[in-house]
Amino acid sequence: MKEENAKIRIQELTEQLRQHNHNYYVLSAPIISDYDFDMLLEELIRLEAAFPQYSDPNSPSRRVGGEITKDFLSVRHKSPMLSLSNTYSEEEIREFDQRMKKLIGSDVEYVCELKYDGVAISISYKNGTFQQAVTRGDGTQGDDVSENVKTIRTVPLHLHGNFPEEFEIRGEIYLPHEGFRKINLEREESGEALFANPRNAASGSLKMQDSAEVSRRPLDCNFYSINSEQLLYDNHYDFLLETNKWGFKTSAYIIKTHKLDDIFEFINDMAEGRDQLPFDIDGVVIKVNDFKQQDLLGNTAKSPRWAIAYKFKAEKAITQLQSVSYQVGRTGAITPVANLKAVLLAGTMVKRASLHNADIIEQLDLHEGDRVIVEKGGDIIPKISGIKKEQRSDHSRPVQYITHCPECNTLLIRKEGEANHYCPNENSCPPQIKGKLEHFISRRAMDIDSLGEGKIEILFDNGRVKDAADLYDLSYEDLLGLEKMFPAVDGKKQRKVSFQEKTCENIIKGISASLVVPFERVLFALGIRYVGETVAKILAKHFRSMEALAEADTESLAAIHEIGGRIAESVYSYFHDPAKLHLVERLKIAGVHMVLSEETPEHSQLLEGKTFVISGTFSEFSRDEIKQLIEQHGGKNTSSLSSKTDYLIAGANAGPSKLDKADALGINILELEGFMKMLNFKF
Ligand code: IVH
Repeated sequence: MKEENAKIRIQELTEQLRQHNHNYYVLSAPIISDYDFDMLLEELIRLEAAFPQYSDPNSPSRRVGGEITKDFLSVRHKSPMLSLSNTYSEEEIREFDQRMKKLIGSDVEYVCELKYDGVAISISYKNGTFQQAVTRGDGTQGDDVSENVKTIRTVPLHLHGNFPEEFEIRGEIYLPHEGFRKINLEREESGEALFANPRNAASGSLKMQDSAEVSRRPLDCNFYSINSEQLLYDNHYDFLLETNKWGFKTSAYIIKTHKLDDIFEFINDMAEGRDQLPFDIDGVVIKVNDFKQQDLLGNTAKSPRWAIAYKFKAEKAITQLQSVSYQVGRTGAITPVANLKAVLLAGTMVKRASLHNADIIEQLDLHEGDRVIVEKGGDIIPKISGIKKEQRSDHSRPVQYITHCPECNTLLIRKEGEANHYCPNENSCPPQIKGKLEHFISRRAMDIDSLGEGKIEILFDNGRVKDAADLYDLSYEDLLGLEKMFPAVDGKKQRKVSFQEKTCENIIKGISASLVVPFERVLFALGIRYVGETVAKILAKHFRSMEALAEADTESLAAIHEIGGRIAESVYSYFHDPAKLHLVERLKIAGVHMVLSEETPEHSQLLEGKTFVISGTFSEFSRDEIKQLIEQHGGKNTSSLSSKTDYLIAGANAGPSKLDKADALGINILELEGFMKMLNFKF
């Protein structure tokens, strides 16, 4: 390469890598894969070595990490937090082994362990108690995130056993898959942007200022190195076993060996088995076991010479971008989606990839019809990690982000500091209305499952419902005969949904049955932005009624522990919107619970003096819920039939002997419908 070209390329790479470092470490939103990042970095290192005159003293090649986040106290590490040198090839592992043998002058013992895909942390302990937890930051100094780390259950606060008086231990904080799914589900329910992968969720969690919020995120931590003057063992393998006894979690997947073949077998086993692990790994780390040998080998400026990481390649495929479509969520948030020419990736056909937001499209410099690289790493949804620019036609135009809502044509807005565009037309933009209704009837909200599977869409398309309160005005006649053909999507066949007698009966029953749903779930069902299940419970418990909540000002809302300013603003503005107040009022008139259940007044004495037995199962209620209703209305529950029983409520699979006995004793047998009629529920 010519000197002039090298200079330009070094500048380009430096700039790109800085941006990617910022995306990764500060924004927690990388737009290229680790593999691609490493390739760029390698290219820069090579060029800097060949043309040292153009090497910038602050080059990304000389730095280990990202920038310092200003909100936390900045702490200097006692020894720098290094990185690991990476490889993607077996050949380089062989070379590593050759190097080790040559430098040490004898056979070398290695330990192989997992490379956890999370966020590095360094924790100091004194006399067996937790002192301080600091993030890697730029490798020299990081942020004091002690309060957040203390909330991680697997990080011991007090140790047991024979530990040194003072030491610093390092490890990786990560979010297991189950916790990741739970957090994203909650975020979806409260209308927040989803985390792209568990690593981003873990790093986002560590940087939160409210440690109570962090404690609800099921983070985990695995430890992999220690710094202390007073160690009672002299090798890494014993460190992993010993520290485990003091209370630290260390990798359960480790081998100790002299043989390269064992190392490759371990790598292959882990590459094959990684999908079965409950957390993400991005490779395997191979370390020289003996501490004296580690000291002898020492470190380069960036990484220890005695260790190497074998990283798994993310599975990738190349295909063509056919179009970009824009989805509108129930909160009006716009999500761009890349529609791709179908391609096989990690065993599944991929036709779509998430594009997240306008910035990502811009940073990728995506053009219409581009050949794109799709990647499925630990991420749940495939993403576009790169573009084959050299295959792009000269006439292709950049993808233009939409300015108006694709559904209702309203001008989109983008709030300062937010990544997503929004359609502000929340009261008449169809997907927002349908999305809110879908949320209202969902299992954890009002649980009206008889309205699932496209039925809301049919009701909306036919003008039967525009908001949640309309559901409670529906009659059997309003429903009968409605139908719609749903086209085939994502491998599901096309299907026709039609409202026949039984369907209509079930819908009306399901809606009526939702009147027993407790206040906190009603509050969640309203779909107020940032009010997910947990926040709804906190607010319900604190204010005890919708009326009191509606009257609260932002200060008193924000004064509640665990309720931040953003939630307070959102709740306040919901209850100061006349349209929303009208909706809540109509729901109240329909009989939906508006007060905390222990304060719900006895409904009535409609069942006074009547004794009931329940048999069988019911799709609308659990047996306990029916028992509760009987008691709330002054009736009495018994378990066995006798001459004193007034009614047998019989559900599906009611015991035939019970039915016969009730007949013989002349006891009234009710289906759920008859029972609900006794309570004046509309069925
Ligand atoms: S040893 C001296 N072991 O990978 C370097 N690191 O680029 C000490 N990581 O920042 C690192 N699993 O956060 C080591 N079993 C493991 C690891 C591991 C994940 C992370 C670590 C480090 C990065 C290396």
